[in-house]
Amino acid sequence: MAKNDDQNLLKKIVSHAKEYGYVFPSSEIYDGLSATYDYGQYGVELKNNIRNYWWKAMVQMNENIVGIDAAIFMHPTTWKASGHVDAFNDPMIDNKDSKKRYRADVLIEEHIAKIEAKIDKEVAKAAKRFGDDFDEAQFKATNPRVLQNQEKIDAINERFAKDMAEENFEDLKLLIEELGIADPVSGSKNWTEVRQFNLMFSTELGSLADGASKIYLRPETAQGIFVNYLNVQKTGRMKLPFGIAQTGKAFRNEIIARQFIFRMREFEQMEMQFFIKPGTEMEWYENWKNKRINWHKSLGMGEENYRFHDHLNLAHYANAACDIEFNFPMGFKELEGIHSRTDFDLKAHEEHSGKKLQFFDNETDESYVPYVVETSIGLDRMFLAVLSSSYEEETLEDGSSRTVLKIPSVLAPVKAAVLPLVNKDGLPEKAREILDELKFSVNAQYDGKDAIGRRYRRQDAIGTPYCITVDHQTLEDGTVTIRERDSMEQKRVSIDEVVKEIEAAVDLKPLLKSL
Ligand code: GAP
Repeated sequence: MAKNDDQNLLKKIVSHAKEYGYVFPSSEIYDGLSATYDYGQYGVELKNNIRNYWWKAMVQMNENIVGIDAAIFMHPTTWKASGHVDAFNDPMIDNKDSKKRYRADVLIEEHIAKIEAKIDKEVAKAAKRFGDDFDEAQFKATNPRVLQNQEKIDAINERFAKDMAEENFEDLKLLIEELGIADPVSGSKNWTEVRQFNLMFSTELGSLADGASKIYLRPETAQGIFVNYLNVQKTGRMKLPFGIAQTGKAFRNEIIARQFIFRMREFEQMEMQFFIKPGTEMEWYENWKNKRINWHKSLGMGEENYRFHDHLNLAHYANAACDIEFNFPMGFKELEGIHSRTDFDLKAHEEHSGKKLQFFDNETDESYVPYVVETSIGLDRMFLAVLSSSYEEETLEDGSSRTVLKIPSVLAPVKAAVLPLVNKDGLPEKAREILDELKFSVNAQYDGKDAIGRRYRRQDAIGTPYCITVDHQTLEDGTVTIRERDSMEQKRVSIDEVVKEIEAAVDLKPLLKSL
């Protein structure tokens, strides 16, 4: 079954994540804070592992990419220069009956997605009918119903893109009305005007007596990289093309923050700005699209779960942009963005700071402002992609059931659990000896409570790829059983081998080599 066929999947994931220490509602004892979440004991490990794989793939594996860690607070002029003060807005619209607030652009995009789904359905039906002889491209180019729907989409997209570019909110509202878009909650079509809403959070720096100044919580980590371009280029003696990577928190006062950790007001980004010679941006844009999709696919979460989506409405800084979309429980949605940002940011910072942010090219003997291709992925969204693609409810041969997180082993929070079969006869001591050896290389845990079957189920629910069981035979011949999470197969191996086998199975090296 496709993930998005299961309407309840997201709900199940939210409650599983809470029950097993992955994600908790923030400040829950005070009834929580909307769209804000805390990562629990397993969540933080998964998050660290995702971040670590990204960092190694982007920084450690590329001689010409280095990392930084810039402050969240930045000089307020940064955000004037970057365009965020004037242009980091979403068009919002309220429903007068339900009093619910929506993003006008999202309402239209969702309407387009519904028409696209009709085309997909038509194609799937025809593919079934024609079998191996089916030519999808030809079908799409000739089928009257598909063509009719495609024409509708094109017409909406054209008007939508124009309205957004010209900030024509009157027409955006008309478009919503003409398309008959109703409030998804109440079904009402009684809409207010469309208004702009700036997404940046602001606060005061310094005490009021000192004359406090207004500063912003960064809405993207990228600007911390741009303002450090020259520092890194000079101190690292970097030559174009080179990249600067950074991970860290970003904040946006989203109009609608929902769908668990998919859209939050406080989230973490992993971004890389790649500085290049002007004119080479399309080549590098394609190059980074390939590199990033390979990084995703290397994790084995299903190649069919990814697709590219080109942006029609380009952000104020981009001349080409696309998303890598993932098949989340709510359907295909943006996971990562790849943007060709031209020299927009560095030029704007030159103008506002009065400092030259250029590169002297020895080959051509000229100075210029580099162009930039960026890759930007939300760590929390990647976390949700991992969690939702790994969650499975299985009925076993004996009729019992289990809930298992088939998280890629390299990312799993706990790599191995060591379980004494019984809590006596020296088995717990032997199990601890094994744990004491394992813990130097992998995150492992000891689990001695409850019957062995229940412990296996608990480790399945956490997503632990290996369980090592210590029994009476272990004391006689130094062997243990190792149980693999997904197949549930068990085999006997020596204690020395078990450590080596687990270290090899969770090693990032083969993945990094495959990139
Ligand atoms: N520097 C470019 C930039 O920030 P973006 O497309 O606005 O581009 C990049 O954001 C990524 O950050 C997105 O693909 C998404 O994964 C993540 N992201 C953006 N807003 C988010 C939110 N409110 N909650 C969680 N993740 C978010």
